[in-house]
Amino acid sequence: MKRILLVVLLIAVLALPSTAAAAIRVGIAMPTQSLQRWNQDGSNMKEQFEAAGYVVDLQYANNDVALQVSQIENMILNGADILVIASIDGASLGTVLAVAQDEGIPVIAYDRLIMETDAVSYYATFDNYMVGTIQGQYLVEKLELATRTDPVNIEIVGGSADDNNARFFYQGAIDAIQPYLDSGIVVVPSGQIAFESVATMAWSSERAQARMDNLIAAHYSDGTRLDAVLCSNDSTALGVTNSLVNAGFEEFPVITGQDCDIANMKNILAGRQSMSIFKDTRTLASNVVAMVEAIVKGEEPPINDMETYHNGVKIVPTYLSAPVFADVNNYYELLIESGYYTPEQLGL
Ligand code: BGC
Repeated sequence: MKRILLVVLLIAVLALPSTAAAAIRVGIAMPTQSLQRWNQDGSNMKEQFEAAGYVVDLQYANNDVALQVSQIENMILNGADILVIASIDGASLGTVLAVAQDEGIPVIAYDRLIMETDAVSYYATFDNYMVGTIQGQYLVEKLELATRTDPVNIEIVGGSADDNNARFFYQGAIDAIQPYLDSGIVVVPSGQIAFESVATMAWSSERAQARMDNLIAAHYSDGTRLDAVLCSNDSTALGVTNSLVNAGFEEFPVITGQDCDIANMKNILAGRQSMSIFKDTRTLASNVVAMVEAIVKGEEPPINDMETYHNGVKIVPTYLSAPVFADVNNYYELLIESGYYTPEQLGL
């Protein structure tokens, strides 16, 4: 009897989380559940943090800034020791994060930089400028811009202006195609090139679709060929593809995207989108867990960029991962063989 008790006790002790992490509460504030990626980001982090013994409070804010602020307030009230935040509007968290700072709570900006406050301690993301560079270079290659002599027509669909990432994506892509805009090999028939004129509020598929409907009606209904649409991410690409389908396009232009969302991967397999940037949410989650582990142990977290991300108040120490692209040629290895998706999820 005594022996059984001892074994039970031993099992109970072994099952306890690792000591460094015991009872540490991590508040995770995600922007919305309406986009596939944030669900994956949230659940990957929850899983990895819980496996390391942390207590997780995971909240989604439905793209509502006031709701995100109140969720973070509640996390602080409920005793969060560390906050991990993917902001909706990067510049709207100053007041609530001042409270976190007063209470000595470290704040990690997740994927999107938190702006205009010194209360943000670290930033973990994929190299946002490189995301745009890869999208732009994809156009250069697929449209053979370096060697062609006849011009191509493209349109540009950007991200949400309140998301600091959106300008990085845009600038990376524009810099890659700028020589061809300058030489006249790339033409934008709508004339809408500046970030402000191509931005899509809240990265909304519906807004991207409505804008594409207008662009087609105004510039392509006379049969003018559309060679490419440079879309910043998958939700905007989805809107563009829907618009083209409704307009009766059968041959699709080169369309870029980002996130490898399931709906977009299916479009890629059906020839309705060309590529999507793959930012493995498992990698970002484990980068953040590593940051938190270091903070908890009083060590310096892994940082590989100390110059790029100025949030208006200070340069935020950042850990950048490298994005890659998926298209019809490499998606199987990248997404299926790596276990990111099952074949069934992509309808294979
Ligand atoms: C993320 C993208 C995402 C977009 C819309 C950006 O901040 O970096 O991966 O597609 O937000 O949610």
